[in-house]
Parts: sequence; structure tokens; C-alpha cells
Amino acid sequence: MSSAKVLNFGPPKTVVPDKPGDLPSPALAKFLPVDDFSKDDKLAEYPHTLSSDLCWGSNSFPRGPKDYVVQLTPEEVRHVSEAITAFKALNLENIALVSRENFRLPSPLAKKLRDISDEVHNGRGFVVIRGLKAKQCTCSDEDGVIAFLGVMSYIGDVRCANSNGMAMDHLRDAIRDEKPKGREHVELHPSKMMAPLKFHADRKFADILALFVKSKAASGGKQYLSSAWTVYNKMRESYPEDLRILVNEFPWPGVKDDQPHTTYSPVFFYKDGRIICQLVYRIFEGTNILNSRQWHALDVLEEVANGVAIELDVREGDIQVINNLGLLHARRGWIDRPGKERYYYRLGLRDTEHGWPRPDNYETVFDDRYGVVPEDQIIPITDFDPYGLTSLDDSGHG
Ligand SMILES: [Fe+2]
Repeated sequence: MSSAKVLNFGPPKTVVPDKPGDLPSPALAKFLPVDDFSKDDKLAEYPHTLSSDLCWGSNSFPRGPKDYVVQLTPEEVRHVSEAITAFKALNLENIALVSRENFRLPSPLAKKLRDISDEVHNGRGFVVIRGLKAKQCTCSDEDGVIAFLGVMSYIGDVRCANSNGMAMDHLRDAIRDEKPKGREHVELHPSKMMAPLKFHADRKFADILALFVKSKAASGGKQYLSSAWTVYNKMRESYPEDLRILVNEFPWPGVKDDQPHTTYSPVFFYKDGRIICQLVYRIFEGTNILNSRQWHALDVLEEVANGVAIELDVREGDIQVINNLGLLHARRGWIDRPGKERYYYRLGLRDTEHGWPRPDNYETVFDDRYGVVPEDQIIPITDFDPYGLTSLDDSGHG
């Protein structure tokens, strides 16, 4: 790891956009010629231009949702319902044990789901599976979770878990939940509030980000995707000095042995022809670890990502399957009303057949969360402790 000199220039920016596009435009200055490489400059090892189906932009899907939604037929939804019933009949102690072996689907549907994994890893990077609306397929929260776990087991066979063994997250507004005694000082993670989130890729999480839309908000909550590969190409072309900052070692605040501990890794990795982007913002809140050039580089990334984004079409019952290594995601804030509350489940997965190779020497960024076997995983059916056990504090989100 090269030594990264960190300069502190006072408090970080705290500007949070209400929606993609609301971020005040930074001064997008161009600096030195990009080919002026120093001997330790990683940008020299990165590709000049990426070319693939993953390099899409705002106008790449002229048919809208028809270009990325996979609609399940009524018969396929019935097969999922039958698989839920068959799994529950096994009376296993832990629903984290749902797998391809015990959530049996007919071969054509299984192949359809495997093709989705191929598309997510080797194509445009995302697919929306539509048709599992609770009323049609499931009759309880547990059935919905089993359906989510079972369908996703065909797309990614290794599920990640956090340090508490929690292998599924609840994304919702938990602000009205009672704080447990002794945790009065604990604040909710932004994922459990109605706050908007800038473009990011859940860092130290998983290859595949899967979101099940249990219910939608009364208003707001729009979601956006951007291709990190398109962002890379545009930054390489127009903002190379900002890109240079993001491909070299970047400081990430953390804690080790109860002491502040900074680690270093890029925002943009490169391995075997693929760019991998890992970025969250919450980790920088309350710190002054980034200097003004580093904040500028992140502002440019956000600006470029806004410019090439698409708005995701969202319906209740959707499973959004997103390549968390090659795509960035963002969301608006939202407003809940009784009976119309935004509620998503989140899974992180890796597919051993299609999974991308890891960058060397960054195991803690990419592999830490795959160490809990399904027998030891916990799938919380409800968000029973959003300030504690089901918190997203170590989940690399937001
Ligand atoms: Fe996220």
C-alpha cells in the first residue's frame, strides 16, 4: 500500500441533495494532464476507456422499464408460492437455510433466474424482477422473506451477514420506534430514516445488492442508478485529476480496538478489465479526514453520476437486483402515511459462477461479510431493534 498523505482542511461539506441533480455544481476545474504519471500513480495501470454493455447512460433505455424489467408469469408466481409451501413443510429451524436445494423451482424458471445473474454480472448490471406482489404470492411477512431468499438464491449462492450475523436488512423510517434503554445516545442510520442518499455503492457489503419492495411511501423515495463505468469514462476524459484522486489510496475512517483507525483503499478499483466502485458518505460524517481536493473529487463524481443516471421504475413486490461493484445508486427522501410506508428488505450476495475477481490486497473491503455460514445467520422477519441488532451501522450503506 502506498503511503497516503492526508491533509485536513476543516470540517467536511455537509450538503445533502434532496434528489440527484440538486447538489450545487462544484467548480469542475481541470488540473494537470492525465498522462503526467508519477511512479506510484495507480491511474497509469487503469484502462483509458471502458467499453461494455455496462457503459450505459441516461438515454440507453428508450423503452424505459421494458428494457430492464423481467415480468414473472402467473404460472411462475405459482411455482414460487409452491416452493414457499414446500420449504416451510421441511420445518427447518432457521429460514436462513433457504437455498436452491430446498427452494425448488422448475428448470425454465431456474434458468431464467440464472440468466438474470449473467445480466447483472456481464450485461447492463441490473434487473428488476416483477410479479411477486404480496397479495398474489405470499400471505405473511415470513412468506415474503422466504420468497425473496429463495428467488435470490438462484442469482447469488453466497449470502453475506454483518458482525451480528444479521443477513437481511430492513430499510424503512424507524424514527418513531422507541429507543432501547441504555441506547438513548444512539442515532439511527440514514437507511432507517427518510433522508435522501447521494450516489454510492454499498461499501464493504456484497457483489450483488438485492432490494425487495415490500411497500412504497405515500410520496417521494424515487431511486436512481448510474453506471460507475460510464462515470469512470467521463471522469477520465474530462476530470482526470479528480479521477486520479479516486483511483489512488483514499482515507476511510474507522475504529480498531476502540480507537480511531484510518484505512486506505481506492474509491475506484481495477481488476482484470473491470472497474469496481465502492463509496459511502456516512463514514465521513463528523470527521475532517478528507482534504478539499478529495471532497472536490467526490463532488465531481456525484455531478457526473447525476448526469448519466436513470430513474428506476418501482412497484410493490419488485426485486431489484443491482451489481453493487459496477453501479451506483441514490434515492430521494420520502413521506410516509399510515398504510403507505416505504419498506424494503435488503440482501447482499455473491454468485460463485459469475462473481467478479477481487482486486488484490483488499480482502477487508470485499470479503469480510461472507464469513458467516447460513446455519449461523439470522434473518429478522421484523425490524425488531433498529437502534441495535438490526441497525445498519456496520453494513456499508448510505
Ligand atoms: Fe445503498
